[in-house]
Amino acid sequence: EKDGYKHFMLKEIFEQPRTIEDTLKGRVFPDEARVYVEEVKIETKFIKDLSKICIIGCGTSYNAGLVAKFLFEKFLRVTVEVDIASEFRYREPVIDNKTLVIVISQSGETADTLAALRLANKKGCQTLAVCNVMESSISREAQHVIYTRCGPEIGVASTKAFTGQLTALYILALDWAAKKESLSKDVLKEYIKELWSIPVKVGDFLKTSDNVKEVAKNFSAKRDFLYLGRHVNFPIALEGALKLKEISYIHAEGYAAGEMKHGPIALIDESMPIVAIAPLGDVYEKILSNISEAKARGAIVIAVASENDKEIKQKSDAQIYVPATSELFSPFITVIPLQLLAYFVAEVLGKDVDQPRNLAKSVTVE
Ligand code: M6R
Repeated sequence: EKDGYKHFMLKEIFEQPRTIEDTLKGRVFPDEARVYVEEVKIETKFIKDLSKICIIGCGTSYNAGLVAKFLFEKFLRVTVEVDIASEFRYREPVIDNKTLVIVISQSGETADTLAALRLANKKGCQTLAVCNVMESSISREAQHVIYTRCGPEIGVASTKAFTGQLTALYILALDWAAKKESLSKDVLKEYIKELWSIPVKVGDFLKTSDNVKEVAKNFSAKRDFLYLGRHVNFPIALEGALKLKEISYIHAEGYAAGEMKHGPIALIDESMPIVAIAPLGDVYEKILSNISEAKARGAIVIAVASENDKEIKQKSDAQIYVPATSELFSPFITVIPLQLLAYFVAEVLGKDVDQPRNLAKSVTVE
């Protein structure tokens, strides 16, 4: 059951080192610098000749797709579009038999995602599902399936399914890059090693969860939150904001940090905390300057930063330190504090964390 945790959501957050590892096992072989996904039998020629990848999902699964766009573009040099399922199916997407359509769904039963998959099948695309539930409608109807091995996710707010989806998508990107020979052997090896090290890093971070609880206590009375991120952490800003609004009913928005001055900066004052996702990497300096701009307008900044970052303490009001990773792999690590932050805020406010109002675990109606 809940294994002594107060809520399923908390249990599921803490399961992530294991669920990520389970999703990697038997597919990623760091010693041999090899990736092998037995169940996905897409031909190498198809990967080489691909004209486009379309990624489709709803909610958290859509956010995982947004992260994957960076990977597939970088590793495979192929055009990637990411769509919300209910948008994709009602426009006239340009897709054909050289398109790979990846649908992402924890439950495998989301009505709009299923309808989008059916449309892609009808248009002659190759279709692949990233799914957590065996024998679900989506996993049955997709031509290929890669399962995340997260076990049942009970909490309505998706947590371990998200990191499981990321894991599966990173594996696929590496597998196809190897097949297409679009990454050098050395780079591939480096990435495989890094992916393999993620579960331990997530586990290390979880040992510091009390710090996140403290931050949550200090900010739980706020009415609005702004989450800012760049590059691969822009989707994580969206995901962090989604988690907070779902279970605490606090208004939260995720924004690409560079967009701040194009509108949302007008909202900023001391009553709206900003959660800035700022791990070390190529866009670190850029986000630091966004933080300074916000602080100049009185913002209170909670920074999610790398543990070896010496600068961030002077620039922000509260810090949540995460283990160092390369930027490309940072979403695995930066999303965990945001899951915990949402959880602890909702808990302090006494909300029904596992069964938030108005929400269903799986949305089987349009
Ligand atoms: O089962 P699915 O992955 O298809 O579900 C998609 C969304 O309904 C789901 O991620 C939803 O946004 C969650 N409640 C987010 O925490």
